[in-house]
Amino acid sequence: MLPKHVAIIMDGNGRWAKEQRLPRVSGHRAGVDSVRDIVQACGQLAIPHLTLYAFSTENWKRPKSEVSVLMELLMVYLRSEIEDLNRNNVRLSAIGQLNALPKPVQKELHSSMEKLAGNTGLNLTLALSYSGRWDIVRAVQTLALDVRRGKLSPEDITEDLFQTYLTTADIPDPDLLIRTSGEMRLSNFLLWEMAYAELHIASVFWPEFRRDHLYQALSDYLQRERRFGKTSEQLTESGSQSRSYVQKIIDLITRQ
Ligand code: FPP
Repeated sequence: MLPKHVAIIMDGNGRWAKEQRLPRVSGHRAGVDSVRDIVQACGQLAIPHLTLYAFSTENWKRPKSEVSVLMELLMVYLRSEIEDLNRNNVRLSAIGQLNALPKPVQKELHSSMEKLAGNTGLNLTLALSYSGRWDIVRAVQTLALDVRRGKLSPEDITEDLFQTYLTTADIPDPDLLIRTSGEMRLSNFLLWEMAYAELHIASVFWPEFRRDHLYQALSDYLQRERRFGKTSEQLTESGSQSRSYVQKIIDLITRQ
């Protein structure tokens, strides 16, 4: 089966720009074209959830000028794509410390999410001012408050309950994590949620990443055996995928 949730660490914008002898921010600008193509391709493949790591908590440490361009690009993307996103039945969500974003970005984000709220296709989640540890600590704080107020006792805390306190409570865990530019790190992205994600490292920089690279990642994913701690033999016939079935899906997606 195709993944229900694809998460992407869009990496290598700066290195791509350097290779082209352009300023770093040109890499981010070019990266928006990749975002557009991948969002459209995921929608066409009927993948229910796509989460993009667009700005991490740590990214605030970048030069002020680069942070401003990234914020501006986000606004431009939301403004210029809203009609297309709507036509393509895309819903928009955001995770992260959204109140740390500049006020105009918050406004644009909230109005875009509102406009697209009724859509039923791809759920596009932007991770903005987000880090996995930030979300876990925030969840623990809220949970501790609920214990103090007597709404919960410590024995009630299970993995399933804890998950409901995360900002990703409404999204299934990612099945596939793609990171571009050959780097092999999680970089504080969806740490709790990534427990059983399959990892795919694409060697190209994010501004070069297009739907063909996504198809490659999906075909790689389809050939993995996801055991979730079990043995190969324990996996039922219906759960495991025969080679011909996998091949059929790969042919189907690469023909689009
Ligand atoms: C990492 O490349 C990329 C980012 C920190 C930002 C990603 C943002 C975009 C693609 C544009 C705006 C996003 C949306 C959703 C419209 P890097 O700068 O760390 O590259 P490097 O490792 O080569 O320096």
